[in-house]
Amino acid sequence: VTRAVPLGCGHHLPERIVENAEFAKTLETSDEWIKTRSGIERRHFAAPNEKTSDLAIPAAQRALAAAGIEASDLDAIVLATATPDETFPATATRVQHALGMTNGFAFDVQAVCAGFIYAVGMANSLIQSGQAKTVMVIGAETFSRILDWTDRSTCVLFGDGAGALILSAEPGAGTLADRGVMSVKLHSDGAHHDLLYVDGGPSSTGRAGCVRMQGQRVFQHAVNKLAQVAHEAMDSVGATADDIDWMVPHQANSRIIESTARKTGLSMQKVVMTVHNHGNTSAASIPLALSETVQAGRIRQGDLLLMEAIGGGLAWGAALMRW
Ligand code: ACO
Repeated sequence: VTRAVPLGCGHHLPERIVENAEFAKTLETSDEWIKTRSGIERRHFAAPNEKTSDLAIPAAQRALAAAGIEASDLDAIVLATATPDETFPATATRVQHALGMTNGFAFDVQAVCAGFIYAVGMANSLIQSGQAKTVMVIGAETFSRILDWTDRSTCVLFGDGAGALILSAEPGAGTLADRGVMSVKLHSDGAHHDLLYVDGGPSSTGRAGCVRMQGQRVFQHAVNKLAQVAHEAMDSVGATADDIDWMVPHQANSRIIESTARKTGLSMQKVVMTVHNHGNTSAASIPLALSETVQAGRIRQGDLLLMEAIGGGLAWGAALMRW
């Protein structure tokens, strides 16, 4: 069988760090509230002239360096974002050009916070079908551009950043011991649109709009759907919680992560947690968390990773991949 095997990853965070206390200067909120309700302590925000592609490009360059390959070795770039530089073209084509990649193709995937799982699914399918051999998967966001700074229930929760992962076709034995992507399970349900959306866009208001969220209701869906889809991804390849070395979850809220770990049967020692430093960076959160943990030498070759995410749509999914 063909496996989409990880060759390397990289990440980039904008320089500016904003601590919770900053928000208390202009809003009726506190470090204590934000920390206890979400686990978030600080987040990075892009500079006014820094676009999503400006975060994605260094992340992609670091992933190429970690993989030891050139941009010309890539057949495709799949970039997940809900905050593209422009309405079109795809931000992925900006990254493609900046890397000096003149062959192959690049496109964006829009599944908000679940975007990285969707993009891994697309990359895996391209590789499985033989349409591409080596694919760069990126999650990159500048959520600071779509926040309502007067809405304390949303603006304190998000951050900016980018992460990238390179997957490449290699032969596998078809067992759980193989390296690479084992399974990807994706779901969406547009009936839940009103729980989490942006109140603008090119064909509705003509402006970008701001994030609107019914946090508590998203929370309830998250804890149920994430545990369900995690089990679905594991069951489909006969994996159990004991087989998982690391859960690398979407970083929205530490309480959601703890609840999902518990329902999946994983101890917190096996869970990557970066939400305290990054906030919710939407599609960027999983590759950011992955890259930091790989760089720290905690995730090692051969480790089985469970990645999962949920966001606007609602859209959610999980992927199993052996590093
Ligand atoms: N500071 C102080 N008080 C606040 C703040 C704040 N920043 N924000 C809200 N409050 C108040 C509320 O007004 C409310 O007050 P009330 O009781 O007087 O009405 C009180 O705090 C409790 O609010 P809840 O919304 O019930 O708080 P909850 O414990 O649910 O935590 C949170 C809110 C952190 C948003 C949580 O619900 C959550 O994380 N939800 C999930 C969000 C998520 O995972 N999104 C993922 C996808 S994101 C994407 O796809 C873009």
